[in-house]
Order: sequence, then C-alpha cells, then structure tokens
Amino acid sequence: VEGCGKSTQTRALVDWLRLRGHTVTLTREPGGTEVGERCRDILLDTGHAGMRPGTELFLYLASRAEHVAKVIVPRLEAGEVVISDRYGDASVAYQGGGRGLGHKLVDELNQVATGGVKPDVTFLLDLDPEVGLDRLVRGRGEHARVCIEGEVLEFHKRVREAYLECAAREPDRFVVLDASRSPEKIEARITAEVEKLLSDVR
Ligand code: TMP
Repeated sequence: VEGCGKSTQTRALVDWLRLRGHTVTLTREPGGTEVGERCRDILLDTGHAGMRPGTELFLYLASRAEHVAKVIVPRLEAGEVVISDRYGDASVAYQGGGRGLGHKLVDELNQVATGGVKPDVTFLLDLDPEVGLDRLVRGRGEHARVCIEGEVLEFHKRVREAYLECAAREPDRFVVLDASRSPEKIEARITAEVEKLLSDVR
C-alpha cells in the first residue's frame, strides 16, 4: 500500500541479512533489469496517465518476465537471498483490483510471466490508504492534497482490499503487518519471520 514504509523496511531487512553473512540481491518491480527499467519509465511517466488498464498490465508483466528470468532465478540458483520490492501480487492488487481486471486473469498471466516462481514469504504492509497517501503528500501543498481525494482514494482502497484478498487466498505465504505501527516494531516482526524461514531451510 502506498506510503506504508516498504522502502525503509526493505533496506532494513537487507542490512539485517547481510550482517548475518547472507548474500542478498535487492531488486524491485517494475524494474530490476534494463528492459524492466524502461518499462518502469513508461509506466510511471505521468504523461501516460490515460494508458489502458490492459496496456499497463502487459507492461508490468513484461517487466516481471525479464526480472524472473534474468535476475530472480539466476540469483536463487546461485544460493542468494532475493528481496523484491513488489512482485506479482502488485499486479493482482493494482491492475486486478484497482483497475478492475480481476484477480483470475492477472493470476493466469502472472503464471505465464513468472513460470510459477513465487516468493517463500511475502510481507504485506497494510495501511489505510488515507493515512498512506497523507504520509506521501505531507508538506507538498494543497494541490497534492486534492490529488488524494475522490477517485484516487477509491482506487487505492480497492488496491488495499485486493492485497488483503491475496493474503487471505495464500495465508501460508503472506505475513500481513499493520503498517501504522512503529518502523522498529514492523522491522522486528519481519526479521523474526525471516529468521524462522531461514532456520527451516537449514
Ligand atoms: P513504487 O513501488 O515505487 O511504489 O512504485 C511502483 C508503482 O507501480 C506503484 O504505484 C505500484 C505500481 N505497480 C502496479 O500498478 N502494478 C505492478 O504490478 C507493480 C509491480 C507496481
């Protein structure tokens, strides 16, 4: 969810893992590869705001397909820990829920893009979008504030709901965290879960 503090948590987790001697690849979506970063530039260019939901979905999937084949699988095969700042669930939440394409279609296309590669664990930093968007626009003036009302807010509420539905469908993979808690508490919970996962692997 926007404004949930995922970049801070991602960095903290990577530092924690490296301190314990793990080799970690930190990557992100859209992006993570040359083609993926080009997709990211197209997707996040505000001049393209009128893009069709299907066009948007295929660009995210294109970025993901490259990302899985060129970064995620090779790094995992090399024995590394891979942390991705967003992955397939983001398409289910934003394009499936937010844009109304539905989770079934997005699940199927994600399967094509990833060949079925899924994370061992997914942390969902859950937050009321009003609080998250407020964090993002704080200090940016009245214009920014107007941008987070009405349709934009409704969109992000659908995204949040779709993320929570993803978590409900796969409770073994997801850890849902209350992102309104302090960053230290969230970090402690994330590292505890990862520690458990790593000891199961050993
Ligand atoms: P962020 O990760 O820096 O917040 O920016 C990525 C943006 O892209 C964010 O608004 C969520 C959006 N997104 C999708 O809509 N679908 C996707 O599949 C992914 C990976 C991201």
